[in-house]
Amino acid sequence: MLRCSSNRKVFRLGRRLGKSEIMAIKALHFLFNNSPKAQRWDSYRQEWVQGFGTIMVVTPFLSQVKNIFGRIKELIDMNPELKAEVKRSVATPFHAIELHNGAKILGFSAGANGAESVRGQKADFIMLDEMDYLDEPSIEAVLALLMEHSEVELLCASTPSGRREYFYRFCKDRMDFKEFHFPSHVNPSWSPQMEAELREFYNTEAGWQHEILAEFGEAVTSVFQTKYVSHARVDYRYEDLIKNPEMSYAIGIDWNDQENGTKIVVTGWHPTRQYFKVVQKETIQKVGWTQTAAIEKLIQLNRIWQPDYVYVDQGYGATQIEVIKRFGLDAKYAKHDYAQVDARLANIVGINSSSNVEVIDPTTGEKVKKPMKPFMVENAVRRFEQGIVQFSLYDEELYQQLIGYSIEKVNASGKPVYAAGPHGDHDLDALILSLLAFQMETSEFMKPEFNATITFSGNFGDGKGERQIAGDDDLHDVLDKINNPKPRTNTPHIRSDYNAATAKVSMFGTGRQVVRSYSPEEFNNDDRGRLSSNRVQREYLKSFRKGMNRRGGRGF
Ligand SMILES: Nc1ncnc2c1ncn2[C@@H]1O[C@H](COP(=O)(O)OP(=O)(O)O)[C@@H](O)[C@H]1O
Ligand SMILES: [Mg+2]
Repeated sequence: MLRCSSNRKVFRLGRRLGKSEIMAIKALHFLFNNSPKAQRWDSYRQEWVQGFGTIMVVTPFLSQVKNIFGRIKELIDMNPELKAEVKRSVATPFHAIELHNGAKILGFSAGANGAESVRGQKADFIMLDEMDYLDEPSIEAVLALLMEHSEVELLCASTPSGRREYFYRFCKDRMDFKEFHFPSHVNPSWSPQMEAELREFYNTEAGWQHEILAEFGEAVTSVFQTKYVSHARVDYRYEDLIKNPEMSYAIGIDWNDQENGTKIVVTGWHPTRQYFKVVQKETIQKVGWTQTAAIEKLIQLNRIWQPDYVYVDQGYGATQIEVIKRFGLDAKYAKHDYAQVDARLANIVGINSSSNVEVIDPTTGEKVKKPMKPFMVENAVRRFEQGIVQFSLYDEELYQQLIGYSIEKVNASGKPVYAAGPHGDHDLDALILSLLAFQMETSEFMKPEFNATITFSGNFGDGKGERQIAGDDDLHDVLDKINNPKPRTNTPHIRSDYNAATAKVSMFGTGRQVVRSYSPEEFNNDDRGRLSSNRVQREYLKSFRKGMNRRGGRGF
């Protein structure tokens, strides 16, 4: 591949075959064997022109540019003669290494402004790494640079994503491109063990085809178009953000097993400037402790961001939802500084993604039932297409999940079935839930499509039946106690002046409307189970509070 003399090359290679390594070497070779000061004869223009001098590397992520430049610098540092030629080497505003003779290599990553920064440049050699993960506008901005002169060289490399965009066309349709196609198996260090490990990681057929075999596979129908997703990438870091009093917040949680970890996404909405912004993202993954740690994290995030809504995926999180609700209800009578904020967690909403949601058909004005999953996904898609979503440029995981998300099939009733890409969909699910919260709860979003009544279903305690799939840690112990209640005591748990219809329990499920209010009688006397579970959950939550006070953290 290094010897190939074609000036249009495309490398379609599986993971870890050396795409980036080859680019680094190729770039280095070009850098030290050309000079803008040398004159060269341009056969097309029939005149002497300036020599080649500029290489441009463009990748979807900053980390990839960093890696390539890191490798180039490593190689330069190995050779004192080469090192002596370097005039300057910087990482901002973009990566650049310049030699004394004026030859230079520039590195860009795509993103909200990626294409913009490329536009003003010129280049003699253009390299696109992981090209199939770049959005079309960025690629077009780069390809425009090929017009600079007739001998500009182009080297593209990627694992296929399944889309039928530029990369596919370069490989399949363009006769002027030299294509190299190798699956990961040709790696000399390929072994049955490596194969087994990779199978585990790329566990879908499409994932394996794309990432390992470097095959295009079936054409995927992306749910989120790359150009809109790219537009949403903005240069900020989640850890630098603090609560903005002008924004309202929603938390979305995708509850998972230990292997995938529970994902929490906090999204803000700016009502006057009209945009959504992902402000924090957490993965909670602790051996034997995931569920408890996730609840603890939620309590912490709730105190920091004080969101208006918390939406949780009900499938895996049913038991946790109950514990959180209980925590919120209890906090109403607590006296510590965060009591009021904690109490809001009683309004946590569990979303059953296989249920239906009632919406008003805008054309007929009639109520129609829509399946929840496509409803929430389409809501998120619309937000991206409106260009009003922002997430961190450095959040590569979310980007990969967004552009990898596809429609696997549409079943007979017209309901789409979604499939995660090679990078999964759990962060994405949490984001989708947080966006759904605004859609369901905020009148400014509700107006066009909804009636104002949200249908609730399920009573407090309904989730118990699902506990067998719920968790991996001591939540089980707590719940065992709930299910094996001890004899009740007569000690009242709730202050006697409590009489208002306060706690609204909402879960999307069958579509039946149940808005429950709890009076002290209900709390203390309606059944043994509840009384007992009150106590058990209280014990459990006491340990949380201890933990919370000890730990502190941002906003405490
Ligand atoms: N020709 C080679 N010989 C030995 N090791 C290599 C070679 N090319 C790449 N590598 C190593 O293989 C690993 C993967 O290479 P990389 O360029 O990151 O792959 P890709 O970009 O295709 O995923 C790196 O650790 C790299 O140093
Ligand atoms: Mg690479």
